[in-house]
Amino acid sequence: MGYQAHFRVWRGGDDGGLRDYTVEVNEGEVVLDIIHRLQATQCPDMAVRWNCKAGKCGSCSAEINGRPRLMCMTRMSTFDRAETITVTPMRTFPLVKDLVTDVSYNYTKAREVPAFKPPAELGPGEYRMQQVDVQRSQEFRKCIECFLCQNTCHVIRDHSENEEAFSGPRYLMRVAELEMHPLDQAENRPEEARGDHGLGFCNITKCCTDVCPENIRITDNALIPLKERVADRRYDPILRLFRRKRD
Ligand code: SF4
Ligand code: SF4
Ligand code: FES
Repeated sequence: MGYQAHFRVWRGGDDGGLRDYTVEVNEGEVVLDIIHRLQATQCPDMAVRWNCKAGKCGSCSAEINGRPRLMCMTRMSTFDRAETITVTPMRTFPLVKDLVTDVSYNYTKAREVPAFKPPAELGPGEYRMQQVDVQRSQEFRKCIECFLCQNTCHVIRDHSENEEAFSGPRYLMRVAELEMHPLDQAENRPEEARGDHGLGFCNITKCCTDVCPENIRITDNALIPLKERVADRRYDPILRLFRRKRD
């Protein structure tokens, strides 16, 4: 049975504001359906980014009642029918218009992570790995690049001055994935994570993990192990001695 819901949606750029709408909701719909209905019936110029409507392209990230979420994976049935539902753009990134933000910070940070460096003597098709190593990186490869974790992390959310020094959870996770790859020949990814990507800014609050729609355990499985490797390499006296002898 359909009903009329109350929506409050950000309209315009930085100098815009929240506008109220009453809009029809039908059985089984998600927030993105309602935003599309608003576009179709009341505000044809509303900017919204989306592609798959299946939780796989990572395009429809927004903040719903203040919580970073995918609009296409947020069911209307999870809200009280009398509740006013607020939809705002991701707060961390520069606003383009309405619900669309400029997420190019993330692409810049992605480019700063040096690529996988396979052994020179192996050609494509000659890589051999233990299943356990494959499984470890498969969790990280579920990432759909929705940037909700990047948007949520307090290191940059209210502190744009940290953007240059900090790559955010998604790209620290990428460094961890490469560091854990048994065939990666890069010299010292943990040191890069610390020095070039700002791993030390992360105080393992797990807010990034809490909002990940792919349920990737970013903090426990990527960031903490990376921090442990940094600590091992820099501060463990036995390991340092061992490395000195080996080198
Ligand atoms: S765990 Fe680290 S990266 Fe994740 S939100 Fe907290 S400070 Fe940011
Ligand atoms: S790690 Fe999760 S929250 Fe972060 S970009 Fe990937 S899918 Fe989105
Ligand atoms: S539209 Fe693709 S994740 Fe929502």
